[in-house]
Amino acid sequence: MQTERIIKVVVTGAAGQIAYSLIPMIANGSVFGARRIHLAMVDLASVPPPRRLMCDNCHEELPPHQQPPARSTPQQMMEGVRMEIVDSDYPRVAKVSIHGNDDAGMSVALSGADYVLLLGAVPRRAGQLRKELIYANSKAFEVIGRQLQEFAPTHARILTVGNPANTNAWILTRACTKIPIRNFSCLSRLDHNRIIGQIMLKTGCSNEDVEGVMVFGNHSDCQYPSVAHATINGVPIQEVIKDDAWYEELTPLIQSRGKEVINKRGLSSAASAAKAIADHVRDWHFGTSGRIISMGLPSLGEYGVPRGLVWSYPVMIDETGVHVVQGFEMTEACVTQFEINQVQLETELAEAEHPDWTNEIAAD
Ligand code: LMR
Repeated sequence: MQTERIIKVVVTGAAGQIAYSLIPMIANGSVFGARRIHLAMVDLASVPPPRRLMCDNCHEELPPHQQPPARSTPQQMMEGVRMEIVDSDYPRVAKVSIHGNDDAGMSVALSGADYVLLLGAVPRRAGQLRKELIYANSKAFEVIGRQLQEFAPTHARILTVGNPANTNAWILTRACTKIPIRNFSCLSRLDHNRIIGQIMLKTGCSNEDVEGVMVFGNHSDCQYPSVAHATINGVPIQEVIKDDAWYEELTPLIQSRGKEVINKRGLSSAASAAKAIADHVRDWHFGTSGRIISMGLPSLGEYGVPRGLVWSYPVMIDETGVHVVQGFEMTEACVTQFEINQVQLETELAEAEHPDWTNEIAAD
């Protein structure tokens, strides 16, 4: 007989690819261990009807057999996922519910939520500009911020995954002021994991052997991944990997990895993003036991970052909360990288607020 309170986890973008990889991890205990969960899946409440193909000559609608096959709606796709969860008889799943992203759906989904995982966003396509995403997503995140303010409990922990993740999280903190600022985060664990993956590839070590990897700044192509303080089995990385070219190539490799995955797959990373979300939320819930992980957080001024900017930091998490690990030396290179990230983030915030900035896209 279970007596512990059920954890309510809201996942937006639940009909999407990342969710399809993430939901089994949440359901099988990889995130919340033995705790039972209520999974509240959210996606678009309604979608515009598909465009009908017209005859080039007569300009009338083509007959049904010449139209493209109808695609499932997000609500139908979530129904399918719910069926699969039932069919998998996961022992940790106490309840699965499905909601639209309008106020009617979100008021129910967010009620009593412990974790709100915001996967839903317009995804970046190959060749698309980052600021096009800002345009598409900033307004949507203003709505979510208001919904959090109106419907979520103050203890809810909110993770923003949809890009531009740092700026989207910043928009939430402005729209939802009743939830403590450090209950908001954005995903930089994917970048953190990517660094560890490269170290594993280079040395053949296990991920558990690697400590002290850090990601600073924006989840973008100017993020600052650092292995300056990394160790492998307790030995400084510089004593294990003595290959200058590897260090030189690492930063651009991590910075452009998301774009490279999109170029190959034609779609944003999904399986690795889901693994990173599971790692992020598990560590937020259970703590990091003294290990350093990377997490995007609203700055409280640590390392000179302006307060409120959502910035990836090295953190440790314990039962008292999330703590930015301070005291690492700010080398000249580090200061330069911080400045680049700060300028990029402040530009994004301005673009997110700029009412006429669509004109700039046209001129781009
Ligand atoms: C990633 O890092 O893989 C994604 O954030 C890339 C993207 O723009 O979707």
